[in-house]
Amino acid sequence: MGMPMDSGRFSALLLILVMGFVLVRCGRSESCQGAGPKLAPLQPNRSSELAEAMRELDAELVSFREDHLAGDGWDGKAFTEYDLNGLAPTDSSMLVDGYKAFAMAFHAHITAFNANPSADTYMGVVNGCTSCHQKACPGPLERIAKRELP
Ligand code: HEC
Repeated sequence: MGMPMDSGRFSALLLILVMGFVLVRCGRSESCQGAGPKLAPLQPNRSSELAEAMRELDAELVSFREDHLAGDGWDGKAFTEYDLNGLAPTDSSMLVDGYKAFAMAFHAHITAFNANPSADTYMGVVNGCTSCHQKACPGPLERIAKRELP
């Protein structure tokens, strides 16, 4: 049988608990982080090898397309040849059924362009990007569509 707590002590205890809770919550709020220098993310998300190759290829498309629109010829242009089957993606779920075939078809488009750079073979490469992305990774499709020639 415990001593009955008088109500004054009880509410003081309650107040301390509530204040402690409020303090802990404030310590975690975003405004506290915002006040100081930004913290680095706990797990910096390094790009996969495959994602880096994609960005490089995309930059090549942009530059070849801009040159073409500015009236330059295609001579001397070449895409970097990546082995898309050998580069690691962010996670293996991206290697969908048929991925290998898309990668091989894409490689054929790259080789065709590099052997004979032209508007036609350029569009072959863009189509190669599109076919694999429709299956493996639809996110960049909108961006890839902007690489088509007018
Ligand atoms: C054989 C399949 C395949 C082909 C061909 C392909 N991609 Fe990708 N692409 C992927 C996959 C899978 C990813 C996701 C990679 C990852 O996150 O690890 C990706 C990612 C990307 C990304 C996002 C990169 C990032 O920063 O996360 C872009 C942009 C992209 N591709 C553009 C292209 C372009 C442009 C081409 C053609 C020149 C192309 N892709 C050809 C499969 C392909």
